[in-house]
Amino acid sequence: MARNSYSSNLALLCAGFALLCALCGAQARKNNLQDSPIQVVATVKIMRSYRSLKAIRGKRAFRSTHDTVELHCPEVIDPTDGIWKPDPNCSVPLTRIARGDDEVTAFQRRYNVISGDKIAATFDIRNRRKNDNNGDARRSLRTARENLVTDAILRPDSIQVVERNNEPKEVYTGSPIQLRAVVYLVDFCGWKNPFRSAQALRTYLFSENGAVEGNMQNYYRTCSYGKTIWDPKYVAVVGPLQLDCKGTVANGALRYNFDASKSCDTNELMYWRIGADTQAQKLAASDPNLSSILQWSQRRRVMMILPPETKCNFNGIADASCVGSICRSFINTKSPLDVNVLFHELQHNHGLNHAGRNELEYGDPTDPMGDSPASGQKVHCHNAPYNWRIGWARPIAGGLLTAANFTPAANRFVLTIPASGTTDMNMVIVNMGSSSPQAGASFITYPKYFLSFRVRNVTFGGYDSGLSAAINQAVVIHKYDGTMNDRDASKSTLVAIGGPRFDSFDPAFPARDVWTGPFTPFNSTSGLGGGLRVKVVSVGPSSAVVEVCRMYSQTEGKPGSAECQANLDRDCDGKMASLDSDCNPK
Ligand SMILES: *[C@@H]1O[C@H](CO)[C@@H](O)[C@H](O)[C@H]1NC(C)=O
Ligand SMILES: *[C@@H]1O[C@H](CO)[C@@H](O)[C@H](O)[C@H]1NC(C)=O
Ligand SMILES: *[C@@H]1O[C@H](CO)[C@@H](O)[C@H](O)[C@H]1NC(C)=O
Ligand SMILES: *[C@@H]1O[C@H](CO)[C@@H](O)[C@H](O)[C@H]1NC(C)=O
Repeated sequence: MARNSYSSNLALLCAGFALLCALCGAQARKNNLQDSPIQVVATVKIMRSYRSLKAIRGKRAFRSTHDTVELHCPEVIDPTDGIWKPDPNCSVPLTRIARGDDEVTAFQRRYNVISGDKIAATFDIRNRRKNDNNGDARRSLRTARENLVTDAILRPDSIQVVERNNEPKEVYTGSPIQLRAVVYLVDFCGWKNPFRSAQALRTYLFSENGAVEGNMQNYYRTCSYGKTIWDPKYVAVVGPLQLDCKGTVANGALRYNFDASKSCDTNELMYWRIGADTQAQKLAASDPNLSSILQWSQRRRVMMILPPETKCNFNGIADASCVGSICRSFINTKSPLDVNVLFHELQHNHGLNHAGRNELEYGDPTDPMGDSPASGQKVHCHNAPYNWRIGWARPIAGGLLTAANFTPAANRFVLTIPASGTTDMNMVIVNMGSSSPQAGASFITYPKYFLSFRVRNVTFGGYDSGLSAAINQAVVIHKYDGTMNDRDASKSTLVAIGGPRFDSFDPAFPARDVWTGPFTPFNSTSGLGGGLRVKVVSVGPSSAVVEVCRMYSQTEGKPGSAECQANLDRDCDGKMASLDSDCNPK
């Protein structure tokens, strides 16, 4: 959230106003039983989930059916300890206003919002207690509160964005990003999480004796090239803690019912976090290390390891981008803990979305935000677009190509791409829809392609040691329209895996070593557009050689045309016009 007094004053003002309205509303309902509107200012939180364990009827398999947009209380500074907390007077009904990837993505597009933005919205409060017509103001308020949380109905057209959060967060720009986190092992409803001591989980989290290869500390050190740090000094593991199975929990001025024996919904997720943090605050009285981590009130990670019997149908769910004082992730333990699920959820907190292919939300096997295979507790790092999005890696020298880098006479580059694990300068970005990399350059809607080379590392704990064998020594091509910006929530799309053969190859090249992207007519006035052809020249243990060719047309030209006279290879088929069958039909 933005830390300026204007916005928190605004939030307070609105929260106060809303309470007043809730009061009036309760009064009004006593008289005429009508719905009463309240207006609130709320903070948006987007949650992204990993893999439904059960397909939901009527939804495509492997779509993220548990993604949500939630409305939360804005945060204010607590004057007693100087820590950002949900506004205690807030009467924003904690609500899910979108569910499933399609709805969440449509919502984000429509309002251009990400986690941490503030919206104004109007709720109608339904009166369910028709016979409740006695009681003083205090009673009315309680009734209003109780009604509010279950009976608040959002007026869909009432949403207005009041503030976009532009605070720089977690894109690497030169100083290491030090993560602070508390990981809770929790038990409830007679169910136990599989880790009976903090020590048992530490082997998945830290590079200590007996740790798994892909422990989180190594994951971050290796995959981020030392740019984001997960250090045991700043990560506390707490538990097992015993939480309530059902009850009520307060948030802001409202109380909510939760019942973990029956559901795994917004209220349960909220209670688990608050319940665990409350117990940890008590433990912190005699544990200065824990105390200093809990006092960290800027983007602190809170990861919850849940018992396998929970009613949650996801492998994991997390706040997409970390804003305000905390961001959450919840890990289901129905299947044995796999480090790539931990990393997946933590990287949602870091700002990343899912990595897909075609219609498959998690269809990209080259990225842990996609269809990471069970990694054998090894390290599986990000694809090129996501490494670039958070500043972990960048193009090779001469590897950022825009339209101006190509001419019909020089439309082919031969480039050596090092294995992603060997250096953080390891990708080629081709953007022929843009006239230059500078901001404000003219552009058209055209895919931005990312080329990288992935090698399954055999060194213990090495970069991509958890990469699937099928992708070993592979040139991979992604499409990504995102930017290197905390507000960017775009998904990356895998388009081809090759080396030397592409799985998605151009049939005009029987050797299958050429991939051709969709063609947009070249505009000679703007110099933008055309098509991209990528040929894998060779692959080796630590680098690949590729040929990147910009197509100015799909065929060389008509026989006798000016194009056929100019002796160029405008269609990137490897034949100059004089030798191209397009120009010389038999
Ligand atoms: C909450 O409301 C009470 C009563 O109006 C007020 O005294 C208090 O300062 C408010 N708290 C915050 C954090 O705004
Ligand atoms: C607290 O942290 C220090 C320094 O990292 C460490 O030496 C010490 O063992 C920790 N104490 C506890 C109780 O974990
Ligand atoms: C494999 O990992 C080791 C250790 O992290 C690293 O030095 C080496 O460059 C990696 N090799 C490749 C091909 O990624
Ligand atoms: C080609 O680019 C020019 C200059 O940007 C633009 O005015 C024109 O509309 C474009 N032509 C087509 C067919 O897109």
